[in-house]
Amino acid sequence: MTTNMADDQREEPGVVIKDGWSGYSLELFNYPEHYKGDLECVYIPHGVIMNRIECLARDILEDIGHHDMMVLCVLKGGYKFCSDLVESIKAQSRSASRRLTTRVEFIRFKSYLNDQSTEDLHIIGPDDLSMLKGKNVLIVEAIVDTGKTMRALLQHVETFQPNMVKVAGLLVKRVPHGAAELPDYVGFIIPNRFVVGYALDYNEYFRDLNHICVISETGKQKYKV
Ligand code: HPA
Ligand code: MG
Repeated sequence: MTTNMADDQREEPGVVIKDGWSGYSLELFNYPEHYKGDLECVYIPHGVIMNRIECLARDILEDIGHHDMMVLCVLKGGYKFCSDLVESIKAQSRSASRRLTTRVEFIRFKSYLNDQSTEDLHIIGPDDLSMLKGKNVLIVEAIVDTGKTMRALLQHVETFQPNMVKVAGLLVKRVPHGAAELPDYVGFIIPNRFVVGYALDYNEYFRDLNHICVISETGKQKYKV
């Protein structure tokens, strides 16, 4: 049997964080003063996120970096991931002396209140995505749980007849009735816990936190609407 190291590595869908993972103590990390007491732990430190993104960028570049890339960022939670991912793709294409243009468009869904997903899902963003026609499209999402957003977006994007569509998800949550299909590029596969930071919010709070953290009961009560 011939096995190739690179192929073996690509079979891992992402960094798996086990159910028992209780995170790092907050005392060990630097985080904004105004969130003291509002967090339970540092779940994924910022540096770890950044390093993982470099790996995703490398894989993306290898797969679809031969053509111009149209990046579709799912707001608001995806803005940091998208920005860091695109920067890393650009940096790696430059150091490989590859010519690659990236263009970023933004799309938004509204579906979460407190820490609960609401039923109705609607796209707010440019109605006309005709610039996707014939292009290689990379959808960038911070978090995939039920996969509903991802499916809806894939369907929507397909109607504009792109050449190819790939999905990058920083986090995939292990939820009951979770996404049937994983994104093409996965950062971390995490337990079913509500996380904040790195642009992920709880009622618009915590987006300004660099690490991905678990919110405390105090934090939940404090920022409840
Ligand atoms: N945190 C923030 N937003 C989310 C999450 C989460 O854990 N899951 C789905 N949207
Ligand atoms: Mg949100």
